[in-house]
Amino acid sequence: MACEEPDRILPAALRGCLEAGWIGARIECADEVDSTNAWAAELARAGAPEGTVVIAEAQRRGRGRLGRSWVSPPHLNLYLSVVLRPTVPEPLVPQVSLLAGVATCDAVGEWHPATIKWPNDVLIGGRKVAGVLPEMAGEGAGRFVVLGIGVNLNAAADDFPAELRDTAVSLWLATGQRVDRTRFAARLLARIEAWCDTWRREGFAPIAAAWHERSGMIGERIHVQAPDGAVEGVVLGLADDGALRLQLASGLEHQVVAGDVTVIGGYGAGRR
Ligand code: BTN
Repeated sequence: MACEEPDRILPAALRGCLEAGWIGARIECADEVDSTNAWAAELARAGAPEGTVVIAEAQRRGRGRLGRSWVSPPHLNLYLSVVLRPTVPEPLVPQVSLLAGVATCDAVGEWHPATIKWPNDVLIGGRKVAGVLPEMAGEGAGRFVVLGIGVNLNAAADDFPAELRDTAVSLWLATGQRVDRTRFAARLLARIEAWCDTWRREGFAPIAAAWHERSGMIGERIHVQAPDGAVEGVVLGLADDGALRLQLASGLEHQVVAGDVTVIGGYGAGRR
């Protein structure tokens, strides 16, 4: 009986799907790594150029936000990290986190309508289809950002651990169609490149506007479970560093820099 080769993302095929640009200046693919973010950071420290992309078929220790792990079964999804070398002043570097959420939402949106939950989770029907983990390191001219993105593409319900089955989704589960992972990776990289170019040319305003459009969170009453406690308030918008600006019941403004957000009563409740 012939054994079926597993589907793999290969550098040459991915390069063939990419339009000429700076993203994908170097592309490396591996069967399994601890974390593509750790791998990309190693390459960046050794001088890899901006636009270097690494992809793994599986991760042993995929990293998520807030110290969580990212479930990374082989040959089903996308686990990708990109090396960026932003030249904006250091306090503005975190804007890249929102930029990545917008780019990922755009790419997912080419297969199925999606929204962003602050800061950069991409949701379909309220379930998480993609997550973004930007990690910054280095100093001065050696400063870099590794933009790590995980997208659930062809995972079936039982590829997710039981505790995630009600909150996670894949594009396959949402659309009933298998996703060509190489084509998806190319579209995602193209969107990252386009938004980075906009950021460089025009600053954060167009990114913030695109984020607002895709998130639908302005005016919503939310609960945030932050590392230093819980807070509730009405969303005013984004601060320049990507923090979420809230108006508290006291009328005071509060900025959230990290945490898990829940929209109280569901989207739109704050405007009814
Ligand atoms: C989140 O918790 O929402 C962020 C998840 C980010 C996962 C991706 S998968 C590719 C890259 N490598 C990692 O170790 N994490 C990111």
